[in-house]
Amino acid sequence: MRDIGYSIDTALADIIDNSLASGASEIDLLADTSSDDPKIAILDNGQGMTFEELVAAMRPGSRNPLEERTGRDLGRFGLGLKTASFSQCRRLTVITVRKGVRSAAIWDLDFVAERNKWLVQIPDPLERHPWAEQLGNQGTLVIWESLDRLAPKGERGDLVRALDLAREHLELVFHRFLTGERGWPRVRMRLNNRDLQPFDPFNQGNPATIIGPMEEFRSGVHTVTIQCFTLPHHKKLSVDEWERNGGRAGYLKNQGFYVYRARRLIIHGTWFGLVRQTELTKLARVKIDIPTGLDAEWKIDVKKASAQPPFKVRERLRRIIDTIGATSKRVYTARGRKLISDARLPVWNRHQDKNEISYRLNPEHPLLVHFLAGLSDEQKVEFDRLALLIEASIPMESLYADMGAEPENIKSTDIPEDTLREIAHFTAENLISSGTSLDEVRLMMQVTEPFRSNWAVTEGILDERYGGSKDE
Ligand SMILES: Nc1ncnc2c1ncn2[C@@H]1O[C@H](COP(=O)(O)OP(=O)(O)OP(=O)(O)O)[C@@H](O)[C@H]1O
Ligand SMILES: [Mg+2]
Repeated sequence: MRDIGYSIDTALADIIDNSLASGASEIDLLADTSSDDPKIAILDNGQGMTFEELVAAMRPGSRNPLEERTGRDLGRFGLGLKTASFSQCRRLTVITVRKGVRSAAIWDLDFVAERNKWLVQIPDPLERHPWAEQLGNQGTLVIWESLDRLAPKGERGDLVRALDLAREHLELVFHRFLTGERGWPRVRMRLNNRDLQPFDPFNQGNPATIIGPMEEFRSGVHTVTIQCFTLPHHKKLSVDEWERNGGRAGYLKNQGFYVYRARRLIIHGTWFGLVRQTELTKLARVKIDIPTGLDAEWKIDVKKASAQPPFKVRERLRRIIDTIGATSKRVYTARGRKLISDARLPVWNRHQDKNEISYRLNPEHPLLVHFLAGLSDEQKVEFDRLALLIEASIPMESLYADMGAEPENIKSTDIPEDTLREIAHFTAENLISSGTSLDEVRLMMQVTEPFRSNWAVTEGILDERYGGSKDE
């Protein structure tokens, strides 16, 4: 039972599920990380349990997974309280108050081993327990002691860091409860008195997020809803916001479906093997809402950390990926296309021939035309050779990898100001002498590298020589 595969994140989430199912509006994670015998507790103000309910709750498999439950009950197997707790600790105490009546029960694995019997201990409910004084007139306190996995005796486990990471996990998994939604009042959660902040993986607060329409489909008597989101491109966000939205694992890994069961996130960052996670779709995230009635069909596991879409839904999901893939790709290629088609003075031309794309120097670029005009025939041949070499050895793979990993850090080489000045003069002169108006020259240069990235300096240079533009 201890090794079903919970992490501290999923274990805490499973205990919080119980609190939410009991109607709690406040949930406190309490951790004593500094004492010799560290402890963790989850305190809620839900409706609590009677003594009989508590004893039943302590039994593994306390309820039948096939039993119908209300749409708000996040439980299914009658296991979570025990399996999640034992995955992290050897001693589980539950103190609960229903209508002012207090009951307590303890599972102590050492006691069980010693007696070689599954004996639950029933202490005097008024006995002192850590944090028990915080229980009000109703609610439940779950205490984990003997944290042999998180903080093994004699070893320096990093409980503080583990809890920090768990906080992030919970801010994502329960973000819809933390924010509140229509018909679902906000739930307040705290870790040692610090409020958890909802983390919305779809960044719906940002106007640059592309929000798709809500799609519904029926599965028996149940309704599943799907909604696609394309996150904003990094150019539209501050570095901080970009980093935050990427999540700890980054955009590439966090793209994909986000499956919510009764508004609680079960699984995310996967396309269920329908397509691969690629660079071009890394801004795509698809929200799927399923009710608890579809648990069996979607193969919800005891830890509530995995799900699999039923066969008949997969085809539908595949079609959705195709459309959202196209939007996400557009966010990327639109920038590429724009740079190239708007720029009437490109240094590089993009050639597309059926499925092959290549980049070549633009032989019509004024600087190039001028340079070639000054060469002897022999030098021209030599230059062509050099140009071919450069075109053939653009470091595509490494650019692609960098673009994927840290696009915001990629920068073109800086051009020293006097060089910029020279090519700006030269380009402008050249265009003017071929009959282009000064205003048009400005417009053309503004969308062309290297002037575009150095526009303030370039503009200064043009003003210096030709005076300010007309509309100034
Ligand atoms: N914080 C709580 N407040 C009130 N009742 C609780 C609380 N925690 C557990 N219970 C009761 O104990 C029962 C057993 O909880 P447990 O987590 O083991 O199973 P479950 O929630 O029914 O199913 P699952 O295994 O899917 O979590 C619950 O069904 C609920 O009735
Ligand atoms: Mg449960």
